[in-house]
Amino acid sequence: MDAVRIEGDGIVLRELTDDDLDLVWAVMGDPVVVEHLPIEPVDRAGAAAMLDEWIASTVVRPRRRYVLALDEVAPGGPTTAAAAGIVTVSVDSIEHRRCEIGFSLRRERWGRGLATAGARAAVEFAFDHLGAHRVWAVCAPENPASARVLAKLGMRHEGTLRHDLLVHGRWVDSQMWAIIADDRVRAHGETGRGGRPAGRRGARP
Ligand SMILES: CC(C)(COP(=O)(O)OP(=O)(O)OC[C@H]1O[C@@H](n2cnc3c(N)ncnc32)[C@H](O)[C@@H]1OP(=O)(O)O)[C@@H](O)C(=O)NCCC(=O)NCCS
Repeated sequence: MDAVRIEGDGIVLRELTDDDLDLVWAVMGDPVVVEHLPIEPVDRAGAAAMLDEWIASTVVRPRRRYVLALDEVAPGGPTTAAAAGIVTVSVDSIEHRRCEIGFSLRRERWGRGLATAGARAAVEFAFDHLGAHRVWAVCAPENPASARVLAKLGMRHEGTLRHDLLVHGRWVDSQMWAIIADDRVRAHGETGRGGRPAGRRGARP
């Protein structure tokens, strides 16, 4: 698969470039953004190392990791200046056709529907281009904005893992959310959108 570019509702998900250091720092360096994530806020050098690692992951084959920039696009127009956030799709099992998604936005771009649009595009990418059967996400119980985004995607809260993660020195539960291919078939009433893409059998990026 060539460089990934996914168009969604008012957004584009695209590959990261060396020019995205400010984005990565704005997101991963903000203590409020990473409050519920199992990473400490990074400084600029840490953000640069992270960006290097993510860009390097694009050439690994089979590709299992897609760390993508989320650009906001004006209706019918070009992308706006600064990327708004980072959306990830990870193939956690090729055999079981399972992908995990994640999303984090710069704080000043919260509350505009961007995470929902970006995460929806990521879910569709996982089903339609990576051949996923199950797409899942983890959410901290104290992160209602994230839970709301996952619910809007049609994911279900399937259960909670107790003390699953050590987040900033504190044990935190993980809510497990997921959508499976059958949910999409039910929602769309057919196997078209949400069915397995023609010619693809299994998560083989
Ligand atoms: C979670 C996050 C990505 C949401 O981004 P966003 O662009 O603001 O999300 P959206 O605007 O698409 O949707 C947010 C929804 O949550 C709701 N919401 C926001 N804060 C809320 C709160 N405290 N309680 C309940 N609902 C809340 C919004 O009203 C909206 O729902 P609506 O469309 O029904 O009104 C963003 O807050 C973020 O980057 N947080 C830090 C990183 C993170 O926690 N990532 C998720 C890890 S799983």
